[in-house]
Amino acid sequence: MQRRTFVKRSSLTVIGMGMFGSLLSNNKKAVAGLSVNGKRIESRIFELAKFGKDSNGHGYRVAYTKGDIEGRAWFMELMKKAGLDPTIDAAGNIIGKRKGKNPSLKPIGFGSHIDMVPDGGNYDGTLGSISALEIIEILNENNVVTEHQLEVIIFGNEEGGTIGSKAMVGELTSDGLQQKSQSGLTMAEGIKAIGGNPDNIQSCIRKKGDFQAWVELHIEQGGILEKEKIQIGVVEGIVGIVHWEVTVEGFANHAGATQMNMRQDALLAASKFIIAVNEVVNSVKGTQVGTVGKIAVLPGAYNVIPGKVVLGLEIRDLNADKIEMLFKEMEKLTANIAKDSKTTISFVRQPNESKPALTNKALQQTINTSVKALGFSTKFMQSGAGHDSQHIASIAPAAMIFIPSVGGISHSPNEFSTATDMANGANVLLQTILKLDKE
Ligand code: HGY
Ligand code: MN
Ligand code: MN
Repeated sequence: MQRRTFVKRSSLTVIGMGMFGSLLSNNKKAVAGLSVNGKRIESRIFELAKFGKDSNGHGYRVAYTKGDIEGRAWFMELMKKAGLDPTIDAAGNIIGKRKGKNPSLKPIGFGSHIDMVPDGGNYDGTLGSISALEIIEILNENNVVTEHQLEVIIFGNEEGGTIGSKAMVGELTSDGLQQKSQSGLTMAEGIKAIGGNPDNIQSCIRKKGDFQAWVELHIEQGGILEKEKIQIGVVEGIVGIVHWEVTVEGFANHAGATQMNMRQDALLAASKFIIAVNEVVNSVKGTQVGTVGKIAVLPGAYNVIPGKVVLGLEIRDLNADKIEMLFKEMEKLTANIAKDSKTTISFVRQPNESKPALTNKALQQTINTSVKALGFSTKFMQSGAGHDSQHIASIAPAAMIFIPSVGGISHSPNEFSTATDMANGANVLLQTILKLDKE
């Protein structure tokens, strides 16, 4: 059952080329003298970006929509050509396996996601997914067979709550399956639409020890690497994310005939709540963030005082307790807002939340050694974005590699990373996997 708490007005109870070849030749060839084909990575990023474009050329490859289904089919074709024999698990995750010499060794997993936020960018998730495939292409072209089996995983619906990876670690609940996705389908309907089997969702679960390691390459989505002119980020921790649906109930009434002191204006109350969110999050030291990212105003007419507003509240931090503390502070402020505006404000915590996760320290060092061997600059940092890796970290040693986002922009059509940075990131991923294979 979804937990609903009320704040009542009266009771007050209270919610990365030919040019690339030469560029790469500047970097010392590291382990095994292999390096990725930056041109192929870049052209595939642009190929994949074509799926889910709307009539104004903006990207809507939102999970479970036509664009997502077409993009996934295109990607699976490439996996097939690379000999990965892709399958889709019960959660809709695409899985491609490449045999190793020693079947007794656990697989090394790497990949990311290819679904996007509405009107999003071309690099979020796709860089890690296309680079994972690139690693396989390079190993094939150089007839390299690793000791470990390799597993490329493209998670389903990362943007809508890291659904595929959450299911893979057994944390997608029946409530979670019934939650509405951005596509309008429930998660269960969406999973079915992309070839999964929500009625048998347990069959996709992987347990502790099933992977030797998991590594995800991703754009930073913030501006730190660019600002500090650093080529590669090694992620130490990934923030937790919690969402609440916030409903403000007032009283719809005539905008002309209702005196100002006679109103129960839901949008006025909601506006004060949004300001309160910002004040509470800024009131304590640290890197926590809080956002009201979506709003619906009803009935939505010039001449009607809004009777109801539904908001989407998100709080993120590396510390789960801080998220809870911040939410409690917001609930306290909400009581006064409701009383003063003669409205009720209620919170429904959304089931698909993500716990914060620290990445594996040994893996961080393996990545850092690869970075140094390639002659790149590096910084250890946290991820303000959520990722599938934060769930995989609960069943396997997991780590992430970041490359710079130009202007620190992401979840926007202006999201951009250079072909050089993408090739750098993919080369760090390649060298890291080769090192892990020797451990
Ligand atoms: O929302 C996030 O942090 C991620 O991009 N899904
Ligand atoms: Mn992502
Ligand atoms: Mn994203």
